[in-house]
Amino acid sequence: MPSLPELDKNNIPTHVAIIMDGNGRWAQDRGLPRVMGHKAGVKSVNAIVRAAGELGVKVLTLYAFSTENWNRPPVEVQTLMSLLKSYLEKELESLVKNDVSLRCTGQKEKLPQEVQKVLNQVIARTSLNKGLILNLALSYGSRNEITMAARCLAQKCCAGEIAVEDISEEVFSEHLYTAGLADPDLLIRTGGEHRLSNFLLWQASYSELYITNTRWPDFDKDHLIDALIDYQDRQRRFGKTTEQVLVKES
Ligand code: FPP
Repeated sequence: MPSLPELDKNNIPTHVAIIMDGNGRWAQDRGLPRVMGHKAGVKSVNAIVRAAGELGVKVLTLYAFSTENWNRPPVEVQTLMSLLKSYLEKELESLVKNDVSLRCTGQKEKLPQEVQKVLNQVIARTSLNKGLILNLALSYGSRNEITMAARCLAQKCCAGEIAVEDISEEVFSEHLYTAGLADPDLLIRTGGEHRLSNFLLWQASYSELYITNTRWPDFDKDHLIDALIDYQDRQRRFGKTTEQVLVKES
């Protein structure tokens, strides 16, 4: 098991994004219904939010519900929505106390009214907090996000509010749900699958990827530290050569 001293506290990724996968298999391995895996996954959400703040991560994005997840069996969708609502209700005071600011990335308007209500309350109550930004990806899909940004920019062009030649990568980024947030430095996927599943396709262009077989309900602070240590061993070149990077570092 890694211990804290191995971690370089001066090289903590600013933004960590996580695909929290493996809940269903975690439950099925134990002879439990899949939804029990999601219930167990909430404990990991709590542990990782706390740990990320303690370790100095500035933004934590959690992929909690994708646009495609609406196609799951109704009982699973209902359970996930009710877990989300109860998480927000139960954790509000703790988020406030720990200076965490909540954000939502995705089609918030597609969520059930009662979830939207509590989500908006928690966002409002934590909006002035200066610690960790907890960004929940809810009813989120990158293709939807990119399509919506393109549509919005096309409308602005038609209305004469922006010139076609003024649409830059920066302007495009500001029309995504993640506007104002730095791109993820580290993208973790639990549960062992090697794919992005429609998550942050634009923003993860230069994210370091870390895939672990550990299923989300088993993922704890030590696993997060493992991922950060692995990240710290990477050389981020952003398309440049090793020599160019080393000259800049020296
Ligand atoms: C993927 O595992 C996980 C999800 C679709 C939902 C994640 C939700 C939680 C961790 C709990 C609720 C969230 C919050 C923020 C309170 P899977 O079901 O696809 O697992 P499998 O690949 O083993 O089937």
